Amino acid sequence: MKVLITGAGGLLGRDMVLAAQLARHEVNGLDRTHLDVTDEAAVELAVSRFRPDVLINCAAFTDVDRAEEDEERAMAVNDEGARIVAAAAKQAEAKVVYVSTDYVFDGEKGAPYLESDEAAPLSAYGRSKLKGEGSTAAEDPRAFIVRTSWMFGHNGPNFVDEMLQLAEDHGEVVVTRDQVGSPTYSGHLAAGIVRLIEGESYGIHHMAGDGACSRYDFAREVFDQARVECSVLSTTADVFGARAPRPAFSALTSQRRHAIVLPPWRDGVAAYLAERRAVAGQSGP
Ligand SMILES: NC(=O)c1ccc[n+]([C@@H]2O[C@H](COP(=O)([O-])OP(=O)(O)OC[C@H]3O[C@@H](n4cnc5c(N)ncnc54)[C@H](OP(=O)(O)O)[C@@H]3O)[C@@H](O)[C@H]2O)c1
Repeated sequence: MKVLITGAGGLLGRDMVLAAQLARHEVNGLDRTHLDVTDEAAVELAVSRFRPDVLINCAAFTDVDRAEEDEERAMAVNDEGARIVAAAAKQAEAKVVYVSTDYVFDGEKGAPYLESDEAAPLSAYGRSKLKGEGSTAAEDPRAFIVRTSWMFGHNGPNFVDEMLQLAEDHGEVVVTRDQVGSPTYSGHLAAGIVRLIEGESYGIHHMAGDGACSRYDFAREVFDQARVECSVLSTTADVFGARAPRPAFSALTSQRRHAIVLPPWRDGVAAYLAERRAVAGQSGP
């Protein structure tokens, strides 16, 4: 298939390009400098030139705290940009994938969220992503909405790197114990999305590392697997005081009969640490 990937310079976008190439699709990955999803004419031109069978929209405004001050900008990319991409996909008779988030939920459920659970975002970012889901599905009936959570991977800042850096600099980290989610390795998610686009199961899919943990457990697992000595102190989200409210419990699971289940989140940590070692080996002396 011909696969056009927007936001191809981001954390997921780059792994998405690699995973689609590995599956022998013909891939055109465009980062923001080559395609701004809020530019309708540019999106239409890119689609009419490449004639994709599938558009995978990895472009997003992902700064959760900044979105609180600039909801308009978050909406422009995450909702209006999504609508533009999906409309162009429909025009080209192509499938479209919109990547969404666990932050569409309020975290009150206390058990892993299913696709049918009601969304009630707490933050501007969550609201913009929920709107983008709706706009994508409204434009193109052949839309896959893929909700994921707590992503980490090689192509962007992430929790695993942050923990390892703090351990190196201070030998101590402080992380929240009252935030629970499903850590997801971007390489595993990209492979899951490649499987998804080969089928016709349109609609919402929850796709995150299998299982759930607190940020505290996540940090401990990273240090255990990386064999790094570091003291892990716990705190609570209200003490931490991030600008945007985040759901306290946002683990995801799927109720779909033929769900694409990603590997357990601990395997994601192992895969990412192996990737980091391989990359460090390549760039060594
Ligand atoms: N990371 C997570 O923990 C997480 C969790 C749940 C869901 N998600 C979702 O997963 C998807 C991918 O996220 P990610 O972590 O890969 O984010 P990311 O690393 O921030 O990548 C997003 C990419 O989109 C680009 N972009 C921003 N505005 C654009 C525009 N107007 N046109 C084209 N490209 C634009 C960004 O470019 P610049 O950097 O140049 O702005 C960036 O390269 C997003 O939909 C996000 O909401 C992420």
